[in-house]
Amino acid sequence: MEFFIDTANLDQITQARSLGILDGVTTNPSLMAKEGIKGNAAVMEHYRNICQIVGQNVSAEVIATDYEGMLREGLALAALHPAIVVKVPMTRDGVRALTTFSREGIRTNCTLIFSAGQALLAAKAGATYLSPFIGRLDDINSAGIELISQIVQIYRVQGYTTKILAASIRSSLHIVQCAEAGADVVTCPLSAIEGLLHHPLTNQGLAQFLADHARINADS
Ligand code: G3P
Repeated sequence: MEFFIDTANLDQITQARSLGILDGVTTNPSLMAKEGIKGNAAVMEHYRNICQIVGQNVSAEVIATDYEGMLREGLALAALHPAIVVKVPMTRDGVRALTTFSREGIRTNCTLIFSAGQALLAAKAGATYLSPFIGRLDDINSAGIELISQIVQIYRVQGYTTKILAASIRSSLHIVQCAEAGADVVTCPLSAIEGLLHHPLTNQGLAQFLADHARINADS
């Protein structure tokens, strides 16, 4: 399973990259706004900076909601850097745009996925990645992880190559559950990735090893 970080914060991207396990970055307009970026030129510059840090698989979302606008914006984003993956929402025009981008060889990430039917349509349209939002499903009392399992099953049976990129990850447990369910990618906050590092028995065990090592040196 690949690990992406779900942020537009350059420090967090750099920190995740320094762990050596980062395969990509996902952003969305809300995450860009959180960084205080203003204006289209600044947005484009920020995407370039992200691409320079991570070097691969950077999802950048179109803002237009009509087909022609999505194509125009998607082409401009794709031209920024070879790492860019054009993020397109699951709408009627979005599906049309996915089909065109796929024909043109432009990589895409179909976002705002909340049902297996939407996942089916996105795969049929040739999306490179599919982003089911599992945390937001959990928020409305619907098990997000079950959607991942269902899509994994459908794609296996049907032979679709669209990669399942589990999004709206809220915890380290979500990451483990996605791995178990067969997601191809998880995109997570840095805190959820770092949460995987910790176990109290690891801390205790390491403290004991260090204490014993110190004793060996003291005895010699
Ligand atoms: O990339 C977008 C997705 O991960 C949203 O997450 O936490 O806003 O539901 P969240």
